[in-house]
Amino acid sequence: MLGSPAGAQEADGSDAAPSKPVFSNPFSGQEDIQAEGRTKFNVHCSHCHGPNAIQGERPRDLRRLTLRYGEKVAEVFLTTALDGRPDKGMPPWRNVMPEEELWKVFTFLGTVQKK
Ligand code: HEC
Repeated sequence: MLGSPAGAQEADGSDAAPSKPVFSNPFSGQEDIQAEGRTKFNVHCSHCHGPNAIQGERPRDLRRLTLRYGEKVAEVFLTTALDGRPDKGMPPWRNVMPEEELWKVFTFLGTVQKK
């Protein structure tokens, strides 16, 4: 038949979803991690993002992450934290804090999100 697809994607009967990195917090919902994440935040991030993330300047107000990014929040958080935004004054943390530590910070930030 003209125009009939070869059907390669149906070969194993599963949906051939494009593979992309998974951005999900391994500590999601773990209350014991929140305080640890807050401490790390206050050591590494608070001098720009405010003690306990209380910061009035919008671009730096990490309490607005969920409002700003919705379901992409974990992805935006991790990529921004790892790579920074050097042109905007946000340093990259890739060689400073392991991803695991950054997810702990993210777990804390989850407790202070504005709705
Ligand atoms: C030297 C100051 C500085 C430090 C330290 C810093 N940041 Fe930032 N960060 C910024 C600035 C400035 C911005 C806003 C960039 C912009 O305007 O897009 C920002 C933006 C961000 C954003 C994106 C916010 C948004 O709404 O798009 C995230 C996420 C973030 N920082 C996480 C962190 C984390 C986590 C730490 C600690 C590990 C940290 N930052 C430490 C300066 C800093």
